[in-house]
Amino acid sequence: MTVVDLNQQRIDAWNSDNLPIYEPGLDEVVKACRGKNLFFSTDCEAAIRAAQCIFVSVNTPTKKTGLGKGKAADLTYWESAARNIAAWSTSDKIIVEKSTVPVRTAEAIEKVLLRNCPAPGVHFDILSNPEFLAEGTAIDDLTAPDRVLIGGKIENDRGTAACAALVDVYANWVPRERILTANLWSAELSKLTANAMLAQRISSINAISALCECTGADVSQVSFAIGKDSRIGPKFLNASVGFGGSCFQKDILNLAYICECHGLQEVADYWYSVVGMNDYQKTRFVRRVVSAMFNTIRNKKIAMLGFAFKKDTGDTRETPAIDVAAGMIEDGAKIALYDPQVPEEQVRMDMGEEAMKSITCYKNPTDALKDAHAVTIMTEWDEFKTYDWKEIYEVMHKPAFVFDGRNILDHAHLSEIGFIVYALGKPIDPFLKSAEGA
Ligand code: UDX
Repeated sequence: MTVVDLNQQRIDAWNSDNLPIYEPGLDEVVKACRGKNLFFSTDCEAAIRAAQCIFVSVNTPTKKTGLGKGKAADLTYWESAARNIAAWSTSDKIIVEKSTVPVRTAEAIEKVLLRNCPAPGVHFDILSNPEFLAEGTAIDDLTAPDRVLIGGKIENDRGTAACAALVDVYANWVPRERILTANLWSAELSKLTANAMLAQRISSINAISALCECTGADVSQVSFAIGKDSRIGPKFLNASVGFGGSCFQKDILNLAYICECHGLQEVADYWYSVVGMNDYQKTRFVRRVVSAMFNTIRNKKIAMLGFAFKKDTGDTRETPAIDVAAGMIEDGAKIALYDPQVPEEQVRMDMGEEAMKSITCYKNPTDALKDAHAVTIMTEWDEFKTYDWKEIYEVMHKPAFVFDGRNILDHAHLSEIGFIVYALGKPIDPFLKSAEGA
Protein backbone atom coordinates (compact mmCIF):
# COMPACT_ATOMS: atom_id res chain seq x y z
CA MET A 1 0.00 0.00 0.00
CA THR A 2 1.55 3.29 -1.05
CA VAL A 3 -0.08 6.51 0.09
CA VAL A 4 0.74 9.38 -2.23
CA ASP A 5 0.17 13.10 -1.90
CA LEU A 6 1.55 16.07 -3.84
CA ASN A 7 2.28 17.86 -0.58
CA GLN A 8 5.86 17.07 0.49
CA GLN A 9 5.34 18.45 4.00
CA ARG A 10 2.38 16.15 4.62
CA ILE A 11 4.22 13.09 3.38
CA ASP A 12 7.25 14.00 5.51
CA ALA A 13 4.94 14.20 8.51
CA TRP A 14 3.48 10.77 7.72
CA ASN A 15 7.04 9.44 7.59
CA SER A 16 7.95 11.05 10.93
CA ASP A 17 7.12 10.34 14.57
CA ASN A 18 4.58 13.18 14.52
CA LEU A 19 1.72 12.07 12.30
CA PRO A 20 -0.20 14.98 10.77
CA ILE A 21 -3.54 13.98 12.33
CA TYR A 22 -4.58 12.85 15.79
CA GLU A 23 -6.65 9.69 15.83
CA PRO A 24 -6.64 7.13 18.67
CA GLY A 25 -4.80 3.95 17.64
CA LEU A 26 -3.47 5.37 14.36
CA ASP A 27 0.13 5.78 15.55
CA GLU A 28 0.34 2.10 16.45
CA VAL A 29 -0.99 0.94 13.06
CA VAL A 30 1.33 3.24 11.11
CA LYS A 31 4.37 2.35 13.17
CA ALA A 32 3.71 -1.38 12.86
CA CYS A 33 3.35 -1.31 9.05
CA ARG A 34 5.43 1.63 7.79
CA GLY A 35 8.37 0.48 5.70
CA LYS A 36 6.97 -3.07 5.51
CA ASN A 37 3.72 -2.98 3.55
CA LEU A 38 2.81 0.67 4.02
CA PHE A 39 4.73 3.47 2.30
CA PHE A 40 4.24 7.23 2.04
CA SER A 41 5.57 9.04 -1.00
CA THR A 42 5.20 12.08 -3.25
CA ASP A 43 6.09 10.07 -6.33
CA CYS A 44 2.54 9.85 -7.63
CA GLU A 45 3.58 8.77 -11.10
CA ALA A 46 5.53 5.70 -9.96
CA ALA A 47 2.81 4.68 -7.51
CA ILE A 48 0.08 5.01 -10.13
CA ARG A 49 2.07 3.02 -12.71
CA ALA A 50 2.71 0.21 -10.25
CA ALA A 51 -0.79 -0.05 -8.76
CA GLN A 52 -3.47 -2.52 -9.74
CA CYS A 53 -5.98 -0.74 -7.59
CA ILE A 54 -6.11 2.99 -6.77
CA PHE A 55 -8.19 4.44 -3.95
CA VAL A 56 -8.91 8.09 -4.66
CA SER A 57 -9.40 9.84 -1.33
CA VAL A 58 -9.05 13.51 -2.22
CA ASN A 59 -11.06 16.37 -0.71
CA THR A 60 -14.49 17.12 -2.15
CA PRO A 61 -15.33 20.39 -0.36
CA THR A 62 -18.43 22.50 -0.97
CA LYS A 63 -18.04 24.82 -3.99
CA LYS A 64 -17.21 28.35 -2.86
CA THR A 65 -17.94 30.12 -6.14
CA GLY A 66 -19.87 29.70 -9.38
CA LEU A 67 -22.80 27.46 -10.17
CA GLY A 68 -24.06 25.64 -7.06
CA LYS A 69 -21.81 27.67 -4.76
CA GLY A 70 -22.32 26.90 -1.08
CA LYS A 71 -24.06 23.62 -1.91
CA ALA A 72 -22.54 21.52 -4.71
CA ALA A 73 -19.43 19.41 -4.24
CA ASP A 74 -16.25 20.81 -5.75
CA LEU A 75 -14.71 17.98 -7.76
CA THR A 76 -11.57 19.87 -8.83
CA TYR A 77 -9.23 17.58 -6.89
CA TRP A 78 -11.03 14.47 -8.07
CA GLU A 79 -10.78 15.51 -11.68
CA SER A 80 -7.11 16.37 -11.47
CA ALA A 81 -6.39 13.04 -9.77
CA ALA A 82 -8.26 11.29 -12.60
CA ARG A 83 -6.27 13.21 -15.21
CA ASN A 84 -2.99 12.13 -13.60
CA ILE A 85 -4.12 8.52 -13.36
CA ALA A 86 -5.07 8.57 -17.04
CA ALA A 87 -1.79 10.18 -18.09
CA TRP A 88 0.44 7.76 -16.20
CA SER A 89 -1.38 4.45 -16.47
CA THR A 90 0.06 1.80 -18.77
CA SER A 91 -1.90 -1.18 -17.41
CA ASP A 92 -5.50 -1.92 -16.35
CA LYS A 93 -6.55 -0.39 -13.03
CA ILE A 94 -9.41 -0.63 -10.61
CA ILE A 95 -10.26 2.92 -9.54
CA VAL A 96 -12.01 3.14 -6.20
CA GLU A 97 -13.99 6.25 -5.24
CA LYS A 98 -13.26 6.71 -1.56
CA SER A 99 -14.07 10.42 -1.42
CA THR A 100 -17.71 11.31 -0.85
CA VAL A 101 -19.00 12.30 -4.24
CA PRO A 102 -22.31 13.28 -5.81
CA VAL A 103 -24.35 10.57 -7.45
CA ARG A 104 -23.08 9.67 -10.92
CA THR A 105 -19.58 11.06 -10.37
CA ALA A 106 -18.21 7.72 -11.55
CA GLU A 107 -19.67 8.36 -14.97
CA ALA A 108 -17.90 11.72 -15.27
CA ILE A 109 -14.64 10.29 -13.98
CA GLU A 110 -14.79 7.41 -16.42
CA LYS A 111 -15.02 9.91 -19.29
CA VAL A 112 -11.99 11.82 -18.03
CA LEU A 113 -10.01 8.60 -17.65
CA LEU A 114 -10.92 7.15 -21.03
CA ARG A 115 -10.36 10.31 -23.05
CA ASN A 116 -7.03 11.18 -21.47
CA CYS A 117 -5.16 7.91 -21.37
CA PRO A 118 -2.54 7.83 -24.12
CA ALA A 119 -1.53 4.19 -23.57
CA PRO A 120 -3.47 1.83 -25.90
CA GLY A 121 -5.86 -0.80 -24.56
CA VAL A 122 -5.78 0.31 -20.92
CA HIS A 123 -9.03 -0.43 -19.13
CA PHE A 124 -10.35 1.27 -16.01
CA ASP A 125 -12.98 -0.30 -13.77
CA ILE A 126 -14.59 2.20 -11.47
CA LEU A 127 -15.92 1.18 -8.10
CA SER A 128 -17.59 3.22 -5.39
CA ASN A 129 -16.51 2.24 -1.89
CA PRO A 130 -17.82 4.96 0.41
CA GLU A 131 -16.08 5.46 3.71
CA PHE A 132 -18.32 5.31 6.77
CA LEU A 133 -15.72 5.58 9.52
CA ALA A 134 -16.11 8.34 12.06
CA GLU A 135 -13.34 10.42 13.55
CA GLY A 136 -12.16 9.41 17.00
CA THR A 137 -13.25 5.81 16.40
CA ALA A 138 -11.74 5.42 12.93
CA ILE A 139 -9.52 2.45 13.74
CA ASP A 140 -12.32 0.49 15.44
CA ASP A 141 -14.68 1.38 12.60
CA LEU A 142 -12.09 0.11 10.15
CA THR A 143 -11.30 -3.15 11.92
CA ALA A 144 -14.91 -3.99 12.80
CA PRO A 145 -17.20 -2.11 10.42
CA ASP A 146 -21.01 -2.47 10.52
CA ARG A 147 -20.75 -2.98 6.79
CA VAL A 148 -18.48 -2.35 3.82
CA LEU A 149 -20.25 -1.14 0.71
CA ILE A 150 -18.87 -1.72 -2.76
CA GLY A 151 -20.67 -0.39 -5.80
CA GLY A 152 -19.77 -1.33 -9.35
CA LYS A 153 -21.15 -2.14 -12.76
CA ILE A 154 -22.51 -5.41 -11.49
CA GLU A 155 -24.68 -5.68 -14.58
CA ASN A 156 -21.63 -6.82 -16.60
CA ASP A 157 -18.87 -9.40 -16.06
CA ARG A 158 -15.98 -6.94 -15.89
CA GLY A 159 -17.73 -4.86 -13.25
CA THR A 160 -18.62 -7.96 -11.25
CA ALA A 161 -14.99 -9.15 -11.38
CA ALA A 162 -13.71 -5.75 -10.22
CA CYS A 163 -16.17 -5.78 -7.31
CA ALA A 164 -15.09 -9.30 -6.42
CA ALA A 165 -11.42 -8.22 -6.36
CA LEU A 166 -12.16 -5.49 -3.83
CA VAL A 167 -14.43 -7.77 -1.81
CA ASP A 168 -11.46 -10.15 -1.51
CA VAL A 169 -9.29 -7.36 -0.08
CA TYR A 170 -11.81 -6.59 2.68
CA ALA A 171 -12.56 -10.25 3.28
CA ASN A 172 -9.09 -10.52 4.82
CA TRP A 173 -10.59 -9.07 8.00
CA VAL A 174 -14.30 -8.38 7.47
CA PRO A 175 -16.84 -11.26 7.50
CA ARG A 176 -18.18 -11.69 3.99
CA GLU A 177 -21.81 -11.21 5.03
CA ARG A 178 -20.90 -7.67 6.06
CA ILE A 179 -19.52 -6.80 2.64
CA LEU A 180 -22.36 -5.52 0.50
CA THR A 181 -22.28 -5.02 -3.23
CA ALA A 182 -24.59 -2.68 -5.10
CA ASN A 183 -24.80 -0.84 -8.35
CA LEU A 184 -22.54 2.20 -8.65
CA TRP A 185 -25.21 4.83 -8.19
CA SER A 186 -26.78 3.15 -5.18
CA ALA A 187 -23.39 3.02 -3.45
CA GLU A 188 -22.69 6.69 -4.16
CA LEU A 189 -26.13 7.76 -2.98
CA SER A 190 -25.95 5.55 0.13
CA LYS A 191 -23.08 7.56 1.55
CA LEU A 192 -24.87 10.91 1.22
CA THR A 193 -28.07 9.38 2.55
CA ALA A 194 -26.37 7.79 5.56
CA ASN A 195 -24.82 11.09 6.62
CA ALA A 196 -28.04 13.02 5.95
CA MET A 197 -30.09 10.59 8.04
CA LEU A 198 -27.57 10.62 10.90
CA ALA A 199 -27.57 14.42 10.94
CA GLN A 200 -31.36 14.44 10.71
CA ARG A 201 -31.55 12.33 13.88
CA ILE A 202 -29.46 14.88 15.74
CA SER A 203 -31.52 17.80 14.42
CA SER A 204 -34.69 15.95 15.41
CA ILE A 205 -33.59 15.38 18.99
CA ASN A 206 -32.22 18.93 19.16
CA ALA A 207 -35.62 20.24 18.06
CA ILE A 208 -37.18 18.23 20.87
CA SER A 209 -34.60 19.62 23.34
CA ALA A 210 -36.01 23.12 22.75
CA LEU A 211 -39.52 21.87 23.48
CA CYS A 212 -38.30 20.03 26.60
CA GLU A 213 -36.97 23.29 28.02
CA CYS A 214 -40.39 24.91 27.59
CA THR A 215 -42.35 22.06 29.09
CA GLY A 216 -40.16 20.71 31.89
CA ALA A 217 -39.48 17.41 30.11
CA ASP A 218 -35.94 16.04 30.13
CA VAL A 219 -34.47 15.30 26.69
CA SER A 220 -32.20 12.54 28.05
CA GLN A 221 -35.23 10.70 29.39
CA VAL A 222 -37.03 11.19 26.09
CA SER A 223 -33.99 9.89 24.13
CA PHE A 224 -33.69 6.90 26.41
CA ALA A 225 -37.36 6.05 26.15
CA ILE A 226 -37.60 6.35 22.38
CA GLY A 227 -34.24 4.58 21.90
CA LYS A 228 -35.71 1.47 23.52
CA ASP A 229 -37.95 1.12 20.49
CA SER A 230 -35.91 -1.28 18.37
CA ARG A 231 -37.13 0.50 15.23
CA ILE A 232 -35.53 3.74 16.45
CA GLY A 233 -32.53 2.38 18.38
CA PRO A 234 -30.49 4.17 21.06
CA LYS A 235 -27.56 5.60 19.11
CA PHE A 236 -27.12 9.16 17.84
CA LEU A 237 -29.85 10.60 20.02
CA ASN A 238 -27.73 12.86 22.22
CA ALA A 239 -28.99 16.42 22.16
CA SER A 240 -26.09 18.79 21.61
CA VAL A 241 -25.23 22.37 20.82
CA GLY A 242 -25.16 21.21 17.20
CA PHE A 243 -23.48 18.72 14.95
CA GLY A 244 -20.18 19.58 13.31
CA GLY A 245 -17.47 17.78 11.37
CA SER A 246 -16.36 17.81 7.80
CA CYS A 247 -19.19 15.65 6.48
CA PHE A 248 -22.70 16.24 7.75
CA GLN A 249 -23.41 19.78 6.59
CA LYS A 250 -21.43 19.42 3.38
CA ASP A 251 -23.13 16.17 2.43
CA ILE A 252 -26.65 17.38 3.22
CA LEU A 253 -26.13 20.55 1.18
CA ASN A 254 -24.77 18.46 -1.63
CA LEU A 255 -27.71 16.02 -1.43
CA ALA A 256 -30.20 18.90 -1.39
CA TYR A 257 -28.47 20.52 -4.35
CA ILE A 258 -28.67 17.29 -6.34
CA CYS A 259 -32.41 17.17 -5.52
CA GLU A 260 -32.79 20.76 -6.73
CA CYS A 261 -31.00 19.92 -9.96
CA HIS A 262 -33.56 17.18 -10.53
CA GLY A 263 -36.42 19.59 -9.89
CA LEU A 264 -37.21 18.09 -6.47
CA GLN A 265 -37.47 21.36 -4.54
CA GLU A 266 -39.65 19.93 -1.75
CA VAL A 267 -37.15 17.14 -1.14
CA ALA A 268 -34.28 19.63 -1.15
CA ASP A 269 -36.12 21.88 1.33
CA TYR A 270 -36.69 18.94 3.64
CA TRP A 271 -32.94 18.32 3.86
CA TYR A 272 -32.06 22.02 4.07
CA SER A 273 -34.26 22.18 7.17
CA VAL A 274 -31.92 19.72 8.92
CA VAL A 275 -29.10 22.25 8.52
CA GLY A 276 -31.47 25.07 9.49
CA MET A 277 -32.33 23.30 12.76
CA ASN A 278 -28.62 22.86 13.48
CA ASP A 279 -28.03 26.61 13.03
CA TYR A 280 -31.04 27.34 15.25
CA GLN A 281 -29.61 25.16 18.03
CA LYS A 282 -26.32 27.12 18.05
CA THR A 283 -28.10 30.48 18.02
CA ARG A 284 -30.46 29.32 20.75
CA PHE A 285 -27.49 28.36 22.93
CA VAL A 286 -25.88 31.79 22.59
CA ARG A 287 -29.21 33.49 23.30
CA ARG A 288 -29.55 31.41 26.45
CA VAL A 289 -26.06 32.40 27.66
CA VAL A 290 -26.74 36.09 27.12
CA SER A 291 -30.22 36.17 28.61
CA ALA A 292 -29.21 34.10 31.65
CA MET A 293 -26.38 36.49 32.44
CA PHE A 294 -28.72 39.47 32.82
CA ASN A 295 -28.78 40.20 29.11
CA THR A 296 -25.19 41.26 28.90
CA ILE A 297 -21.95 39.41 28.56
CA ARG A 298 -19.97 42.49 27.54
CA ASN A 299 -16.39 42.21 28.90
CA LYS A 300 -17.30 39.12 30.90
CA LYS A 301 -14.76 36.32 30.85
CA ILE A 302 -16.45 33.21 29.51
CA ALA A 303 -14.46 30.01 29.70
CA MET A 304 -15.05 27.83 26.67
CA LEU A 305 -14.11 24.21 27.28
CA GLY A 306 -13.59 22.34 24.04
CA PHE A 307 -13.36 23.58 20.48
CA ALA A 308 -13.08 20.33 18.47
CA PHE A 309 -16.32 19.21 16.79
CA LYS A 310 -16.34 16.13 19.03
CA LYS A 311 -14.09 14.42 21.55
CA ASP A 312 -10.96 12.44 20.73
CA THR A 313 -10.11 14.52 17.70
CA GLY A 314 -8.28 17.77 17.08
CA ASP A 315 -10.52 18.42 14.06
CA THR A 316 -12.44 21.70 14.13
CA ARG A 317 -14.14 21.63 10.75
CA GLU A 318 -17.69 23.02 11.06
CA THR A 319 -17.43 22.75 14.84
CA PRO A 320 -20.42 24.39 16.57
CA ALA A 321 -17.87 26.15 18.82
CA ILE A 322 -17.02 28.50 15.93
CA ASP A 323 -20.56 29.88 15.67
CA VAL A 324 -21.10 29.95 19.42
CA ALA A 325 -17.82 31.80 19.98
CA ALA A 326 -18.66 34.26 17.19
CA GLY A 327 -22.11 34.83 18.66
CA MET A 328 -20.76 35.51 22.13
CA ILE A 329 -18.05 37.82 20.79
CA GLU A 330 -20.72 39.79 18.97
CA ASP A 331 -22.23 40.41 22.39
CA GLY A 332 -18.90 41.64 23.72
CA ALA A 333 -17.68 38.55 25.63
CA LYS A 334 -14.02 37.79 26.30
CA ILE A 335 -13.53 34.11 25.59
CA ALA A 336 -11.01 32.01 27.51
CA LEU A 337 -10.57 28.89 25.46
CA TYR A 338 -9.15 25.53 26.42
CA ASP A 339 -9.18 22.40 24.28
CA PRO A 340 -6.87 19.46 24.99
CA GLN A 341 -6.11 18.88 21.29
CA VAL A 342 -6.77 22.02 19.27
CA PRO A 343 -3.75 24.33 18.91
CA GLU A 344 -4.10 28.12 18.98
CA GLU A 345 -3.10 28.47 15.30
CA GLN A 346 -6.09 26.33 14.34
CA VAL A 347 -8.47 28.50 16.39
CA ARG A 348 -6.93 31.56 14.72
CA MET A 349 -7.55 30.08 11.27
CA ASP A 350 -11.15 29.22 12.13
CA MET A 351 -12.06 32.46 13.87
CA GLY A 352 -9.96 35.09 12.03
CA GLU A 353 -7.74 37.86 13.38
CA GLU A 354 -10.56 40.22 14.39
CA ALA A 355 -12.29 37.63 16.59
CA MET A 356 -8.95 36.61 18.14
CA LYS A 357 -8.83 40.03 19.83
CA SER A 358 -11.61 38.64 22.05
CA ILE A 359 -10.24 35.11 22.46
CA THR A 360 -7.38 33.94 24.66
CA CYS A 361 -6.26 30.33 24.23
CA TYR A 362 -4.94 28.57 27.31
CA LYS A 363 -2.79 25.48 27.57
CA ASN A 364 -4.50 24.38 30.79
CA PRO A 365 -8.07 24.59 32.06
CA THR A 366 -7.13 26.20 35.39
CA ASP A 367 -6.07 29.51 33.83
CA ALA A 368 -9.04 29.51 31.48
CA LEU A 369 -11.47 29.08 34.36
CA LYS A 370 -9.90 31.50 36.87
CA ASP A 371 -12.04 34.63 37.33
CA ALA A 372 -14.52 33.47 34.68
CA HIS A 373 -18.17 34.43 34.95
CA ALA A 374 -19.37 31.38 33.08
CA VAL A 375 -18.25 28.09 31.60
CA THR A 376 -19.57 26.79 28.28
CA ILE A 377 -18.97 23.14 27.38
CA MET A 378 -18.57 22.79 23.63
CA THR A 379 -16.95 19.36 23.27
CA GLU A 380 -17.64 16.22 25.30
CA TRP A 381 -14.00 15.57 26.30
CA ASP A 382 -13.92 13.01 29.15
CA GLU A 383 -11.43 15.05 31.16
CA PHE A 384 -14.02 17.80 31.76
CA LYS A 385 -15.97 15.34 33.89
CA THR A 386 -12.97 14.68 36.12
CA TYR A 387 -12.32 18.31 37.13
CA ASP A 388 -12.76 19.40 40.72
CA TRP A 389 -15.80 21.61 40.11
CA LYS A 390 -15.92 22.75 43.72
CA GLU A 391 -12.46 24.24 43.36
CA ILE A 392 -13.44 25.80 40.04
CA TYR A 393 -16.50 27.37 41.66
CA GLU A 394 -14.27 29.01 44.28
CA VAL A 395 -12.16 30.83 41.68
CA MET A 396 -15.03 32.04 39.50
CA HIS A 397 -17.11 35.22 39.74
CA LYS A 398 -20.55 34.77 41.32
CA PRO A 399 -23.13 33.92 40.32
CA ALA A 400 -21.09 31.28 38.51
CA PHE A 401 -22.80 29.80 35.46
CA VAL A 402 -22.27 26.51 33.64
CA PHE A 403 -23.80 26.10 30.17
CA ASP A 404 -23.42 22.47 29.23
CA GLY A 405 -23.77 22.19 25.46
CA ARG A 406 -23.06 18.45 25.57
CA ASN A 407 -24.89 17.37 28.73
CA ILE A 408 -21.83 15.59 30.09
CA LEU A 409 -21.46 17.05 33.59
CA ASP A 410 -23.19 16.00 36.80
CA HIS A 411 -25.71 18.83 36.92
CA ALA A 412 -27.22 18.00 40.32
CA HIS A 413 -23.73 18.05 41.84
CA LEU A 414 -22.92 21.38 40.17
CA SER A 415 -26.15 22.94 41.48
CA GLU A 416 -25.34 21.66 44.95
CA ILE A 417 -21.97 23.42 44.78
CA GLY A 418 -23.74 26.64 43.91
CA PHE A 419 -23.47 26.89 40.13
CA ILE A 420 -26.37 28.15 38.07
CA VAL A 421 -26.63 25.35 35.53
CA TYR A 422 -28.10 25.34 32.05
CA ALA A 423 -28.22 21.92 30.44
CA LEU A 424 -29.63 21.45 26.95
CA GLY A 425 -33.16 20.10 26.93
CA LYS A 426 -33.37 19.79 30.74
CA PRO A 427 -35.78 21.50 33.13
CA ILE A 428 -34.70 25.12 33.49
CA ASP A 429 -33.06 26.27 36.73
CA PRO A 430 -35.47 28.65 38.58
CA PHE A 431 -32.69 31.26 38.68
CA LEU A 432 -32.51 31.24 34.87
CA LYS A 433 -36.27 31.43 34.57
CA SER A 434 -36.40 34.56 36.68
CA ALA A 435 -33.34 36.09 34.95
CA GLU A 436 -35.05 35.56 31.63
CA GLY A 437 -38.39 36.74 32.93
CA ALA A 438 -39.93 33.40 31.99
C1 UDX B 1 -19.62 11.16 10.31
C2 UDX B 1 -20.31 9.81 10.14
O1 UDX B 1 -20.70 9.30 11.43
C3 UDX B 1 -19.39 8.83 9.44
O2 UDX B 1 -20.08 7.60 9.19
C4 UDX B 1 -18.92 9.44 8.11
O3 UDX B 1 -18.00 8.57 7.48
C5 UDX B 1 -18.28 10.78 8.35
O4 UDX B 1 -19.18 11.65 9.04
P1 UDX B 1 -17.81 12.18 11.98
O5 UDX B 1 -18.08 13.49 11.30
O6 UDX B 1 -16.41 11.77 12.21
O7 UDX B 1 -18.50 10.99 11.18
O8 UDX B 1 -18.50 12.26 13.43
P2 UDX B 1 -19.86 11.75 14.10
O9 UDX B 1 -19.52 10.87 15.23
O10 UDX B 1 -20.83 11.25 13.13
O11 UDX B 1 -20.41 13.13 14.75
C6 UDX B 1 -20.78 14.23 13.95
C7 UDX B 1 -21.29 15.35 14.81
O12 UDX B 1 -22.54 15.01 15.41
C8 UDX B 1 -20.37 15.72 15.98
O13 UDX B 1 -20.31 17.11 16.11
C9 UDX B 1 -21.04 15.08 17.17
O14 UDX B 1 -20.73 15.72 18.37
C10 UDX B 1 -22.50 15.26 16.80
N1 UDX B 1 -23.41 14.31 17.49
C11 UDX B 1 -23.27 12.97 17.29
C12 UDX B 1 -24.41 14.80 18.30
O15 UDX B 1 -24.55 16.01 18.48
N2 UDX B 1 -25.26 13.90 18.91
C13 UDX B 1 -25.16 12.56 18.75
O16 UDX B 1 -25.97 11.82 19.33
C14 UDX B 1 -24.12 12.08 17.90
